[in-house]
Amino acid sequence: MTRKEALDSIKANVENQNLVKHMLAAEAIMRALARRLGEDEVEWGLTGLLHDIDMELTEGDMNTHSKLGADLARELGANETMAHAILCHNEAHGIPRETKLDKALFCADPLTGLISAAALVRPDKKLTGLEAKSVRKKFKDKSFAAGANREQISLCGEIGLELEEFTELGLEAMKGIAPDLGL
Ligand SMILES: [Fe+2]
Repeated sequence: MTRKEALDSIKANVENQNLVKHMLAAEAIMRALARRLGEDEVEWGLTGLLHDIDMELTEGDMNTHSKLGADLARELGANETMAHAILCHNEAHGIPRETKLDKALFCADPLTGLISAAALVRPDKKLTGLEAKSVRKKFKDKSFAAGANREQISLCGEIGLELEEFTELGLEAMKGIAPDLGL
């Protein structure tokens, strides 16, 4: 599967542009994580990019969300490791996270939301001037962007990253595609 094929499929299945941006952010963070951990950047990037492709098709039903997504990813040519990561990023199925890819996607997913929210409360609503330490400050403020699950983000420890490095890596990755994110 090429990145273009993945994007075309997203365009065909997802209308909400904020959801598309969330998947682009997840892709960027996953690529950066793969680079940092010596894993396959293409495979990890595509997994991040596709992980919520079924959100509208399943109408957010957590009993089917990510099952359909994993199937769609397989149809596009994703291997089983990638499909499994997509499948188990939704905890509702009770499928344990086994591989590094599973664990990376799970903690990267909510980090995108925290970083986007931290950018959006800035006067310029941009990522440019945002520092990782202020992302961590927002991390500690549990009422801020409460949907960005802090426990889940903290599981970066399972892939060997401290929160400090994880927030820095995530922020830099998202800054790298800021125009695509509209941030
Ligand atoms: Fe997601």
